[in-house]
Amino acid sequence: MRDLTSETITEAVISTMRDTKDARVAEILESLVRHVHAFVREVDLTEEEWARGIDFLTRTGQKCTATRQEFILLSDVLGVTMLVDALGNQRPAEATQNSVLGPFFRDDRPQQADGADISGGLPGTPLFFEGRVVNREGAPVSGAAVDVWHSDADGHYDVDVPGLEDDSAMRALFRTDEKGHFSFRSIRPASYPIPGDGPVGELMSATGRSLMRPAHVHLLVEAPGFQRVTTMLFPSDDLYLDADPVFGVKESLVESFETYEADAGPCRELTDEPYTLLRRAFVLEPLPVD
Ligand SMILES: [Fe+2]
Repeated sequence: MRDLTSETITEAVISTMRDTKDARVAEILESLVRHVHAFVREVDLTEEEWARGIDFLTRTGQKCTATRQEFILLSDVLGVTMLVDALGNQRPAEATQNSVLGPFFRDDRPQQADGADISGGLPGTPLFFEGRVVNREGAPVSGAAVDVWHSDADGHYDVDVPGLEDDSAMRALFRTDEKGHFSFRSIRPASYPIPGDGPVGELMSATGRSLMRPAHVHLLVEAPGFQRVTTMLFPSDDLYLDADPVFGVKESLVESFETYEADAGPCRELTDEPYTLLRRAFVLEPLPVD
């Protein structure tokens, strides 16, 4: 294997991996090498440009912390997250559809009792959420784990709210009851920009793209025997529904965030301010039978 050229190097690299034991790993690596080489040839990549690309990826990794995942964000803004999801989670229209997990999920969130206030005392329009988890036939799924997380009224997640005492505000894990029901109280989230202070922000700026996501509530629903649903709900009156930088909006996830005066509507006993009520059922698909 000497004197390789731009014509022969691709096959040479692939031939070095012929002893890969795992057939799927072999398939993925061969395809990756072919596509990366084809990309380099297609754009006739210069040494300076490749060094810049390496620097970009290096800084993307360095930007990651326990509470910030720049690589997930990169995958999101390049549409890879939603592409992988679309290929892996094809569900009938009646089932709740997936959207992006995003960079702000945390598995160290507290479990909360039904009806808990998870606002962390932050200011904002009260949001009452009434959720139900059901199967295809509409029967309740009890004991489902439901993660919820969302931004505050300024579009910040708990990790980005300066001086916040409750370091897991606006996020919680709930369990559905025997009727498949869960509920909580929080504050209404706002549209917000994806983090623009890292390499992904540079990419967005270089390509003239807006950072603004439509407001949303993230949910992750899991129950034994069912496909996991990673999703979010968007208010139907949001300005950014058609310009989501992470391509996560689906029509079936756009919801009416009903607004009520303080003395009206189903939650009037629970607040003395105007409020928002969000009611939603989540329809789970059974796991495929092998
Ligand atoms: Fe989000």
